[in-house]
Amino acid sequence: MNGVTGRMGTNQHLVRSILAIRRQGGVTLPDGGKVVPEPLLVGRSEDKLRALAEEHALERWTTDLGGALAEPDCEIYFDAQATAARAAAVEKAIAAGKHVYCEKPSAPDLESALRIARLAREAGVKHGVVQDKLFLPGLRKLRALVDAGFFGRILSVRGEFGYWVFEGPEPAPQRPSWNYRSEDGGGILADMFSHWRYVLDHVIAPVRSVYTLAATHIGERVDERGNPYRCTAEDAAYAVFELEGGVVAQLNSSWCVRVDRDELFELQVDGTDGSAVAGLRDCRVQTGGETPRAVWNPDVPNPLRFRDSWVDFEGDAGYENAFKVQWELFLRHVAHGDPFPWDLFEGARGVQLAELATRSWRERRVVEVPELPA
Ligand SMILES: NC(=O)c1ccc[n+]([C@@H]2O[C@H](COP(=O)([O-])OP(=O)(O)OC[C@H]3O[C@@H](n4cnc5c(N)ncnc54)[C@H](O)[C@@H]3O)[C@@H](O)[C@H]2O)c1
Repeated sequence: MNGVTGRMGTNQHLVRSILAIRRQGGVTLPDGGKVVPEPLLVGRSEDKLRALAEEHALERWTTDLGGALAEPDCEIYFDAQATAARAAAVEKAIAAGKHVYCEKPSAPDLESALRIARLAREAGVKHGVVQDKLFLPGLRKLRALVDAGFFGRILSVRGEFGYWVFEGPEPAPQRPSWNYRSEDGGGILADMFSHWRYVLDHVIAPVRSVYTLAATHIGERVDERGNPYRCTAEDAAYAVFELEGGVVAQLNSSWCVRVDRDELFELQVDGTDGSAVAGLRDCRVQTGGETPRAVWNPDVPNPLRFRDSWVDFEGDAGYENAFKVQWELFLRHVAHGDPFPWDLFEGARGVQLAELATRSWRERRVVEVPELPA
């Protein structure tokens, strides 16, 4: 597990996924056998690795990636490093014959993303990319509504993602400073559009075009060491997508908004027969029959409480941590050959959308999203 001292590596992947899977006794295979992952922690800082290993009573850690890749009992290479460092390390792991699983975006540019996908295919190793939002309760409920035909014909989708990321030094920023430097693989387009691709493609309908206006609203921030730095990457992106079937999707992504929502991400879907608002956990719906008859009249106090005519949609009970659910599927894929469609080619589609959205912004025009070459 490389990059495991980072925010995502420690919290979501080590503690809430791999250690949680170990605590439950592993992942059960169809024949009743168990797969219990044994992590080897890899990183750049001895001190951080030692502290992390001690905290979780783990014995295996190293700063030597080459040495880790030479360990014959390590079958899977996992990467949650800062994005700019990922493709080269994944390439080394594939050359060492490891199966690979990594965070999104799989690479900083489409060419590198396709390159590692093809290398993995040619090497015959199993591969996957984190697409955690698909496993969040709120989006699984939304997907269940789409599958059930709840919306009738889907007309439009509007999403709000974001929160205020402190500039530092106090309150301390909640995100790493490289996120705000394009030379280090930062920027909200690379970060969030790699999510929006699979969310739109797999929950609503395939993305066909994109128009984006992005901005660097905050020009200077303070880094982990307390030093001010110039922000070279965009910290907000406002995008309109056309989806297959003529669905229009608008998504705002921003690290410079104060939240007046129930959740940090909300996606509203409006259809001819009903609407839904899905968050990370919850999903509420309004049917055509429950739709209030709104009439524009600012001269009198509003007689309708619009939010009262929405009801919670519970879906199937029993949702687990999204990262852990996908890890279990990947472990079953490796150990038993169960299907795992969220591979490096799928990851490359996310990188493609981020790249095309960036082009749209730079060239101030709508950009078509072509099929990816295999
Ligand atoms: N799936 C999600 O929802 C989600 C959310 C946030 C971040 N991510 C992805 O996870 C990855 C890690 O993000 P994070 O927020 O944990 O970052 P982080 O800065 O907290 O951690 C980065 C890790 O990479 C290592 N690293 C290696 N080379 C580096 C370099 N040159 N500069 C900085 N760090 C380097 C660090 O030591 C650290 O362990 C990113 O690719 C990001 O896109 C995914």
